[in-house]
Amino acid sequence: MKKAIYPGSFDPVTYGHLDIIARSARVFDELIVSVLDNKAKHPLFSVDERVNILKELTREYRNIRVESYTGLLVDSCLMEGAHVIIRGLRAVTDFEYELQMAQTNRKLAGSQVDTMFLTTDLRYAYLSSSTVKEVASFGGDITGFVPPIVAELTYQKYGISKSAQTRK
Ligand code: PNS
Repeated sequence: MKKAIYPGSFDPVTYGHLDIIARSARVFDELIVSVLDNKAKHPLFSVDERVNILKELTREYRNIRVESYTGLLVDSCLMEGAHVIIRGLRAVTDFEYELQMAQTNRKLAGSQVDTMFLTTDLRYAYLSSSTVKEVASFGGDITGFVPPIVAELTYQKYGISKSAQTRK
């Protein structure tokens, strides 16, 4: 059984992440979407909120499970019996960080865990969770970046009412 982990912060999940999830779920028998529970970071959404949002958005997939993890990603991979880490590459600017992470994970886990990259769909190549948060925080329109439920919850976090979400 081919099992992979798609890890990330998902704060919040974007259409770019969801595209990688859909494509990975077609390749692997089981896909674990895993949210990093990093106490050192100050995310907009709690880890439980992010897990619940992802569960809701991946409800239709029978081969996707949503979890959270703390500590090293490779430990979580080994615990889950997943030998592949999926990461999305948007542009060459992602490459250096992703390469460093992949090499570090390979050093830590040896041949037990490999990283596989999917190139982000061009429609989402510019998109990041940070951009979504910045635009939302100023009341800008994020409806083209994230699903409606995520947009609503993100605006709520910034105390922005629906009627204020008209700026493009
Ligand atoms: O969505 P992100 O923030 O780009 O995801 C990064 C993430 C969560 C995959 C990465 O930071 C991670 O797995 N951290 C856990 C700690 C770890 O394993 N570090 C060693 C590899 S650099």
